Amino acid sequence: LGADRWGTLAELAPTLQGRNVLAVVDRRLVSLHPSIGRVLSDTATVTVVGGERAKSFAVLERVLAAGGALPRSGTMLAIGGGTVGDLATVAAHLLKRGVALIHVPTTLLAAVDSSLGGKGAIHVRGVKNAAGVFHFPVATWLCEELFATLSSRQRAEGAVEAYKMAACLDARAWRRWRQAPPATTAMVFEARALKSAVCRRDPYERGDARRLLNFGHSFGHVFESLTRFRLPHGAAVCLGILCALDVGRRLGVTPEPVARDVEAGFGELWRASGSRQAPRAALAHIIGGNSAGAIATLLAADKKAGPSGELRMVLLERLGRARVEPVPTKLWRSSLGKWRRGDR
Ligand SMILES: NC(=O)c1ccc[n+]([C@@H]2O[C@H](COP(=O)([O-])OP(=O)(O)OC[C@H]3O[C@@H](n4cnc5c(N)ncnc54)[C@H](O)[C@@H]3O)[C@@H](O)[C@H]2O)c1
Ligand SMILES: [Zn+2]
Repeated sequence: LGADRWGTLAELAPTLQGRNVLAVVDRRLVSLHPSIGRVLSDTATVTVVGGERAKSFAVLERVLAAGGALPRSGTMLAIGGGTVGDLATVAAHLLKRGVALIHVPTTLLAAVDSSLGGKGAIHVRGVKNAAGVFHFPVATWLCEELFATLSSRQRAEGAVEAYKMAACLDARAWRRWRQAPPATTAMVFEARALKSAVCRRDPYERGDARRLLNFGHSFGHVFESLTRFRLPHGAAVCLGILCALDVGRRLGVTPEPVARDVEAGFGELWRASGSRQAPRAALAHIIGGNSAGAIATLLAADKKAGPSGELRMVLLERLGRARVEPVPTKLWRSSLGKWRRGDR
């Protein structure tokens, strides 16, 4: 999974000396943190505009072209949020059939989740993460100084992924975090411990262990695609979790008190992200504006689908315990009507 290094950019800099490095950096970070420019003054650098558009063939091609002179013994350094990290992961996997990769996650979401576990992907014709790779980093630098410029909205989006892990894997962490939200360092540390334990057991998602991390992502990815990525990933997962809770309720997998507690927890994160609409209203709005056919097409691209394309979702059995469960088409289609009306 690569080593976790907690430190500063100043401490990272000397470790790059003598290596052939290509840095892929979120452009916004360069202006927000002048220290990045200083650290990379002698390093080949390609800047990209962070955001879902970075996860495209066009931007990938630009990074691959910039990496043409990088030898196979070279290193790619990804400095940015989850989108830059996912893009750089694909590029590092392809360049010279694989160069070393170092992540410097700059969003809370990237620190708790996307920089760990080796997954990278780009979108194909609007379908979220349709083409991807596993390519594990040699190291991840957690430079907390970079988190200082994150807005409360960006922090809430990162917290969604951390709370997702607690809900599915660790009931005690969930209860503790519900009582008192953890400080950033503690959240990153605990979420990474939870995720790395799962990834060590099932690094290439061959079984169900790693799939459990996709709680809320079947519908979450659909909502990102339907809104043409205007809905940020963390917010989309928040709404996707409501759908997973409702499907779990209807299949008798998720007990009502658990569903209510988890819905309240993610409702708080949703509000912390500054959205004016209530989560159920936002869900009704997105589903109401799209046909069941469009939703079915996007759901069919879900990577958890069974052999004949049937939907399989991560459902919560109780706090800290989830399982992957086939979901009959009739059930999720009839749920669409309820969600459209703002019901569960
Ligand atoms: N590979 C995985 O295992 C995995 C896991 C979870 C999510 N993801 C992916 O991660 C992506 C979402 O990541 P994200 O939320 O980090 O998105 P992002 O990379 O788009 O970052 C969000 C915004 O924050 C800005 N930003 C980055 N660092 C900043 C900083 N320090 N201060 C101020 N602004 C900063 C970016 O420019 C961008 O506008 C999605 O594409 C999702 O699919 C991947
Ligand atoms: Zn996610």
